[in-house]
Amino acid sequence: MNFPILHIPVVGDGMTIALNAVLHVCISHGLAIGLMAMLVLFQTLTWKGKGQFWADIARTLLGPLVIVTTSIGAVTGVGIWILTGSLAPEGIGALIHLFFWPWFIEWFAFTAEVILLLCYYYKWDKLITSKPATLAAIGWAYVATSIVSAILITGILGFMLTPQGWPWARSFTEAYFNPTFVPQVFLRVAGGLGIGVLLLMAWIAWRFKGTAHERGRALRACGIALMLALVVTAAASHVYFSRIPQTYLTHWKFAVATSHLSQMPDFLPAANVGAVLVLLLAALAAYARRPLLCRLLCIPAILLSICFTMEFERVREFVRGPYLMPGYMHASQITLVESEAMLTEDKPLLPRLRWAITTDNLPPATQAAKTLFAANCGVCHAESGINGIDQRLAGRTADGINAMLGITQRLAPYMTPFVGSEQERTLLTEYLFQLASNYSRRIQQAAREK
Ligand code: HEC
Repeated sequence: MNFPILHIPVVGDGMTIALNAVLHVCISHGLAIGLMAMLVLFQTLTWKGKGQFWADIARTLLGPLVIVTTSIGAVTGVGIWILTGSLAPEGIGALIHLFFWPWFIEWFAFTAEVILLLCYYYKWDKLITSKPATLAAIGWAYVATSIVSAILITGILGFMLTPQGWPWARSFTEAYFNPTFVPQVFLRVAGGLGIGVLLLMAWIAWRFKGTAHERGRALRACGIALMLALVVTAAASHVYFSRIPQTYLTHWKFAVATSHLSQMPDFLPAANVGAVLVLLLAALAAYARRPLLCRLLCIPAILLSICFTMEFERVREFVRGPYLMPGYMHASQITLVESEAMLTEDKPLLPRLRWAITTDNLPPATQAAKTLFAANCGVCHAESGINGIDQRLAGRTADGINAMLGITQRLAPYMTPFVGSEQERTLLTEYLFQLASNYSRRIQQAAREK
């Protein structure tokens, strides 16, 4: 590996990337696409003579939307790059190599998006009465660009789960236009519309100051849009999940809640059905122009839609299991070809790592073991903390750990094989045994103190 190995202690890499990414997705899909599309629609309705209150609602919400998307939205977007670029540089390197052009074009799309959004916002007062058609055109151009932006990125995200024939044919077209690309585009755009509509609905139900009749009309528009969003999201997720190989899908429940919920196999499906019902009820309440019911339902509906976002992203990232890029690279950023060759030839891994972990006060064997752990397991396990390896191995003997290192990929379908020589495996075993023993000792001590 030509890059330093960085991992986030305690919280772990996956959780760190996820927290940033989910916040980004909620803003970039929910606000930048969904809510903004609704606001432009409302402004268009006023331009078409359907009443002044539509534009008033849009104008009130536009300012906060512009601030949040261009600040938190943009910063978390850059955050994805910084985090994945430093935690998984080899993976990102390989992806940039393959998807240079979509990413390059996406940079222009994003710049155009920001310019159009700022034009829409700052030209509003000047154009809203004199040239409402021009204003609406800027707004819809923005919405179109933001969808193009989503399309450009989704080809890459789809590839990371369903690369189709790419590992063999290595053709860009096959990689980019992979089986989950199109359904995922619909899923993201419709899901974003759903979140945006719910936020808008909540604002109308709680804060709108116009007449009851106007509020009723605005709520009905939200109800229709939410229904549309729900139907498209449901259809798109059905197609999406039907195109993911069954071997991956078998551990989707595990993906959402680790092994804790595996004992209750019906819990997650039931929770999902319940959540869909709440969303449907919210749409019906809005359609029926019932502000009180909307107030009651919109907060849980918004929270549930965020939960759905987290669930989807988690499943999408997790079910590909041991691979960062299936058929090509393990989650540990070691390519399949290389790992195969090293295992059959008993080659050591350490000489290949240019950036070994070094601290002055650690013996060389410990430093080597720490580096081996970081390279092999660190992407999914912290030494202790979330999915901490000390806890996972507590109670095992050194021999047991050594044997386990030889079969990690068979222990669970989502783990990578250990890569390194026999000697390195022994080195790592000793270190892991030490971590596990320390953990057991701490637990026993805590129990005694109670
Ligand atoms: C791609 C991610 C990933 C990598 C890489 C990975 N693991 Fe895991 N490992 C997991 C997950 C997920 C679990 C299950 C967590 C749970 O049960 O909640 C797990 C569980 C375990 C367990 C407990 C298994 C059991 O049956 O109780 C051990 C032991 C373990 N891992 C060791 C390792 C070691 C050692 C390495 C490095 C050689 C490694 N893992 C690399 C994801 C990974």
